[in-house]
Amino acid sequence: MDLGLAGRCYVVTGASRGLGYATAEHLVADGADVVVASRSQASVEESAATLTANGTGHAVGVAADLAEEDSAERLLDAAAEQFGRLDGVVISVGGPPGSSATDATDEQWRAAFESVFLGAVRLARTALERAEAPISVTFVLSTSVRSPIAGLGISNGLRPGLAMVAKTLADEHGPRGHRVNVVLPGRIDTDRIKELESGASDPAAVREKAIAGIPLGRYGQPEEFGAVTAFVASPMASYVSGSVITVDGGATRSL
Ligand SMILES: NC(=O)c1ccc[n+]([C@@H]2O[C@H](COP(=O)([O-])OP(=O)(O)OC[C@H]3O[C@@H](n4cnc5c(N)ncnc54)[C@H](OP(=O)(O)O)[C@@H]3O)[C@@H](O)[C@H]2O)c1
Repeated sequence: MDLGLAGRCYVVTGASRGLGYATAEHLVADGADVVVASRSQASVEESAATLTANGTGHAVGVAADLAEEDSAERLLDAAAEQFGRLDGVVISVGGPPGSSATDATDEQWRAAFESVFLGAVRLARTALERAEAPISVTFVLSTSVRSPIAGLGISNGLRPGLAMVAKTLADEHGPRGHRVNVVLPGRIDTDRIKELESGASDPAAVREKAIAGIPLGRYGQPEEFGAVTAFVASPMASYVSGSVITVDGGATRSL
């Protein structure tokens, strides 16, 4: 299927590795130009070089911490300067630290709010306000939008609200042709998941238990998640807006 990405331009954050990178990989492979962002200039430059070498479109790396106020403008300026247009933003960011809701400190809540919540809202809002033609905004959140995940109290607290902000933005900007959607990863085998598991006394047992709750009987691969997210962001999904799409091998216990 041709996603219609040739010559289009996207900004993808959290894209030096993991789910953001996997999404950028599909976008660039199918001909889009992409500004890839993460906090580390060296990492995004390396990622951009690999994406460009293997893809049809081009990627450039820009260091940007979503928690910082000027990141949204800088990333959108980079897309305008490098590629002269904007067709979408895909917003992924490092997840909040693992903790129960009881034990999470005020400082952990504040830090997570600044990057995971406000950083994402600010980039979405700024892109929608600046766009001269219809764009797509795609938030990478978590199945904690639908059901709490044990040991991820901050994620359980912030993600459902973010999903509702996305829905609200879809209402507010739909009349100008903009689409806003949310994609929910379940257990996709990235550094984030390995890091969370490594905090347990028996990481292999944690993984085994998690897999037992996944109807497809395995963790997802980043490229499986990236394919769905690239589709949602692409013009091929032109009538999908205000939607929440789950990519979890069937694990979530609700529709
Ligand atoms: N993998 C899963 O199964 C899964 C499941 C549910 C939810 N999620 C959520 O999906 C998101 C992406 O997960 P992932 O597995 O791709 O994580 P990951 O492998 O840890 O990658 C995170 C990416 O975000 C970047 N990043 C971290 N903090 C940032 C910040 N403040 N500003 C800009 N970029 C930042 C990292 O690069 P730098 O360190 O260079 O900044 C990296 O490129 C996370 O929010 C995670 O909680 C993932």
